[in-house]
Amino acid sequence: MNAAPGPSAQEIRHAAALLREGKLVAFPTETVYGLGANALDEAAVARIFEAKGRPTSSPIIVHVSGVEMARSLVTEWPPAAELLARQFWPGPLTLVLKKQQAVPSLVTAGLETVGVRMPAHPVAQALIEAAQLPVAAPSANRFTQLSPTTAQHVREGLGKRVDYILDGGPCSVGIESTVLSLAEPIPVLLRPGGISRQQIEAVIGAISQVSGAPAASAHPAPGMHPRHYSPRTRLLLVRNGELPRTGAGAYLQLQHSPLHEARETIAMPLDPHAYAAQLYRVLHELDARSYDWIAVDTPPDTPDWEAVRDRLRRAACNE
Ligand code: TXA
Ligand code: MG
Repeated sequence: MNAAPGPSAQEIRHAAALLREGKLVAFPTETVYGLGANALDEAAVARIFEAKGRPTSSPIIVHVSGVEMARSLVTEWPPAAELLARQFWPGPLTLVLKKQQAVPSLVTAGLETVGVRMPAHPVAQALIEAAQLPVAAPSANRFTQLSPTTAQHVREGLGKRVDYILDGGPCSVGIESTVLSLAEPIPVLLRPGGISRQQIEAVIGAISQVSGAPAASAHPAPGMHPRHYSPRTRLLLVRNGELPRTGAGAYLQLQHSPLHEARETIAMPLDPHAYAAQLYRVLHELDARSYDWIAVDTPPDTPDWEAVRDRLRRAACNE
């Protein structure tokens, strides 16, 4: 999973020291790279918004070393949180719970809740352990741009806006965590992701869902800006291999052969997890080629493709 040699213990200590000084450190998680700051330091968190160019109306996920640290940030730790953390942590599941006062309202965009998650990546865990701090971290990209799944993506996207980058190789999950609110009477799926709704329902029973396109003003499902996770190139979701007839472009093929010519056709994995693991990297690469369009073979309308379909819908400009 973490095939690259990865940062040394000294680099981790250095990064942890920077976090404690209020600086920004980008680090790998199993989902995407995060842009981290001390979650309890409001000025440090303000720098995240600045570096991303992100409106402060979007709350930021807080990364923790385990259940104990998570509990220190929330006022209630309901049985569902305990069950889910036991089953899926460390891993790509963010739990939204009522926040403690110590969590600055800038982290939560003024909401009374905070999203917490224990990442599975060993470098992320080592960083949090070394810093002895909860680490607020959105994806380490400029607002509305593609999420980074390699350290190189972070360098290209944020450059000098980040104080330090820990390189842990490519992310294995490849799309962001599932965000589940436990602050409502019935748990609400705010963002599909690395852990599927079926996996969650197998543990805590039925959950409800905030669907589709959200208001521009966000909340309570922020991050749900219609255009999010987008390449610069026009991305089109297509069916049955129907590509645009004009301009030069690339086709991300799943099940349908292209009916017209594409400059480049990429055969994507038929397994949704393998597809997710490659998606952002492929889009980053294609985006660098300045095509007129990227056409994506629409994935099946089945539950196992929910998270991938969600990201593609947000990246596309035809919906
Ligand atoms: O996989 C991930 O979750 C990555 C890695 C770095 O951990 N992080 C990430 O963060 O994707 P970000 O900031 O790009 O997306 C966080 C999303 C927000 O857009 C929002 O939808 C939701 O999580 N969120 C966070 N805190 C919330 C809260 N208190 N209430 C509702 N939604 C919240
Ligand atoms: Mg993001």
